Amino acid sequence: MPPTAPASSTDTKTLIERLGLKPGHATIVGLQWGDEGKGKVVDMLAAEFDAVARYNGGANAGHTVVVGDQKYALHLMPSGVLYPGKVNVLGNGVVIDPEQLVKEITGLRERGLSIDTSTLFISNRAHIVLPYHKTQDQLQEAAYTMPNALDQNVEGIGTTGRGIGPCYADKALRSTAVRVADLLDLDELRHKLHRIVPIKNATLKALCEYTGQSHEPVDPDALLDWLKPLAAILAPHITDTAGLLHEVTKNDKRILFEGANATLLDIDHGTYPYVTSSNCSSLGAHTGTGVPGHQVGNVIGIVKAYQTRVGGGPMPTQLNDATGDRIREVGHEYGTTTGRPRRCGWIDLVALKYTASVSGATCLCIMLVDVLADLPELKLCTAYKVDGKVVDRFPAVSEDLSKVEPVYETLPGFAGPVDQCKSIAELPENAQNYLKFIADFLGVPVVLASVGPKRDQTAVG
Ligand code: IMP
Repeated sequence: MPPTAPASSTDTKTLIERLGLKPGHATIVGLQWGDEGKGKVVDMLAAEFDAVARYNGGANAGHTVVVGDQKYALHLMPSGVLYPGKVNVLGNGVVIDPEQLVKEITGLRERGLSIDTSTLFISNRAHIVLPYHKTQDQLQEAAYTMPNALDQNVEGIGTTGRGIGPCYADKALRSTAVRVADLLDLDELRHKLHRIVPIKNATLKALCEYTGQSHEPVDPDALLDWLKPLAAILAPHITDTAGLLHEVTKNDKRILFEGANATLLDIDHGTYPYVTSSNCSSLGAHTGTGVPGHQVGNVIGIVKAYQTRVGGGPMPTQLNDATGDRIREVGHEYGTTTGRPRRCGWIDLVALKYTASVSGATCLCIMLVDVLADLPELKLCTAYKVDGKVVDRFPAVSEDLSKVEPVYETLPGFAGPVDQCKSIAELPENAQNYLKFIADFLGVPVVLASVGPKRDQTAVG
């Protein structure tokens, strides 16, 4: 059974009005290290927008949308696919694993959703993740973390192993890249693969020799045979999506730009090198789709009520205690893509002040507020201590971030359950005070608090 849209379009309009969005396009972006719950907000807003466009990342992202009693786990597909008749775009900034995308298309079709050439558009400029990218991703991590003469324990990036970094690296290298447009000309692609695959085999062989692992060389013709049926399914959806989005804009229709991953994982503005390989701040919406920045007046910052991180890299507010374990269990903080347990801790307002600025958040949605219910007290990191000195700037260098000590403000906790609250004013006073503290600290209004995974477990306005 296809999911139903919210009760009436008036309800949805009310939601948008209650969020206080200006007319025109909006970007939804995570302001922490990912997994903030962006999918739920995109899903709720998609009903009101004409198009939903993904601008970055690939199958490293994962969002779960719960509609009624149906659960949809999406990695690549824009969340607008859950509504009939929306234009869904995978922009040029996305890296596409064709096998994963075909799996999602066929899975959604089997559940009765209409994924056709009027609802799904894939940029011909986007890049393709091939199986050797995943192998290279895993071997690169293994090679990087090999003990050496100076260091016995090297912390890896902790990638999702989905081939994201190697694919974006090939995009930057150019000569070894395969783009979505190449799927439309398989004869030319055969020539291309015969040029590229030997180079990839040489790279994989060197990594295997260094790490003591083994890998069968890739055969370009076998790779093409594997790609052919996938290309046949994807081909009708491939187009110049930048041109399509310009038409959407010209016709006064509204686009929702859906960011994957999150601002602290942005390749330029995140906690480098413990980041992903794309611009996942709101800035990427423009390069990743071809729609200029001045056309997008709304940036909806998605913030989890606490902090989580998966993979390598420092996290100043991490809790290695019973409170951290409790947050992980109550919040089901295990990766949707890899199943890895996430590190959990108190909300980090120093990091958030920085990311809200980089992404230009015009309003905030605070997610998973219900997870904090019944904790006796709530801490919020408002500054860092470095060498005994209090600083309020988020450092650009991860080594510096790993040395900071969080300075906390402590607020009283609130009692649950809160999942029936339909407005922020209905939340317990201490929960409202917690949200107000965040809004005041960041200077950005909190317009929505999520109090459960379902669409109707949301407090707005
Ligand atoms: P990659 O994107 O697979 O290269 O992984 C790079 C880093 O980003 C790793 O620490 C991953 O755990 C992290 N990462 C990538 N995508 C997500 C996401 O959607 N949520 C949380 N962490 C992510």
